[in-house]
Amino acid sequence: MPVNTSQKKIMQVLNGQPVWPLPIWVMRQAGRYLPEYRQVRSSVSGFLELCYTPKLAAEVTLQPIRRFGFDAAILFSDILVIPDALGLKVSFVENEGPKLDQVLSLKDLSKLEDELPLNRLDPVFETLDILKTALPSETTLLGFCGAPWTVASYMIAGKGTPDQAPARILAYQDPEFMDALIDRLVRASTAYLIRQIDAGAEAVQIFESFGSALPPALFDRLSLKPIERIVKKLKEERPAAKAIVFVRGGGNNLEKIAAAGFADAIALDWGTNIAVINQGSLSSVPTQGNLDPLALVAGGSYLDDGVDVIRKAARQKAHIFNLGHGIVPQTPIEHVEQLIKKVREA
Ligand code: CP3
Repeated sequence: MPVNTSQKKIMQVLNGQPVWPLPIWVMRQAGRYLPEYRQVRSSVSGFLELCYTPKLAAEVTLQPIRRFGFDAAILFSDILVIPDALGLKVSFVENEGPKLDQVLSLKDLSKLEDELPLNRLDPVFETLDILKTALPSETTLLGFCGAPWTVASYMIAGKGTPDQAPARILAYQDPEFMDALIDRLVRASTAYLIRQIDAGAEAVQIFESFGSALPPALFDRLSLKPIERIVKKLKEERPAAKAIVFVRGGGNNLEKIAAAGFADAIALDWGTNIAVINQGSLSSVPTQGNLDPLALVAGGSYLDDGVDVIRKAARQKAHIFNLGHGIVPQTPIEHVEQLIKKVREA
């Protein structure tokens, strides 16, 4: 094992060292709860334009770092830039969320690029390049992508759907198509993450936001194995790269993911009992999470108590403090300040 000389707290945790007070960042920390984000956002015509304008994407990535001093900055982009770069029509409709052309068959899939044209994502890599030098030296730079199943479910339904029903039905009815789509996304995501590391990301997070929508028979095939392929290849090609795996609704499967041994950290959603970080295979892998984003909206003692429970469970653990899902737009800024103060108590 190489000796870790990094002074960055999040990298220390990802190398297996407990750090106290717990280092902290927040999923979706750049976003609409910040007035300075809304201001930049209103200067562009669409959300994707913001993602593809390196100066602005870097600026909104830096905003929460300046304001709160989080221990990590996460690249400002979206998981749907991959289908966009593969040639699918993707747009973000105001107040409705993402809209995509649907991909429902091998024929539809054949119209997309087989290999990710990396140059279409040059603005993303340029954003990382700016961030690499603009960030304070103690701040870890995180890249990310969506997990294949989560991205596939958007490509199939053409939008967000409550239980990813369209994708789940197709997974049963047309396994050949489903496996081909997942394989396309595994290869694209791997190439994308390798390039993010080369552009300056030190670690990456893989977002399986729809991990709860897979019954046991489909979970291994459509979620666990594809994520494992991405992370193993990434680390084979770039051995210093670290990977955080977030499977929302991971539940019973978290133990299995930890036991598989490929993740440098496992992120827990807010529905998971934090006690599991000290049990079974999860006790020997770094963890991240898992305050309820709505406890952060509520504030007051709900917030303090929620932080205490996590601090207590993670006292001896290599653990990164985070929410159990993205921060929501109605979150008061003072509550985020209260959160950081509380997490950083001695
Ligand atoms: O964490 C960060 O600060 C980095 C940026 C980031 C965004 N999206 C910015 C964004 C990250 C890591 C994502 C990931 C993402 N995108 C996920 C996985 C994480 C999760 O929340 O489960 C998913 C499922 C998406 C797809 C997506 N993008 C949806 C469903 C939406 C609309 C939701 C909404 O709140 O309107 C987006 C748009 C989006 N991505 C916004 C931001 C800041 C809001 C768009 C805007 O500003 O107009």
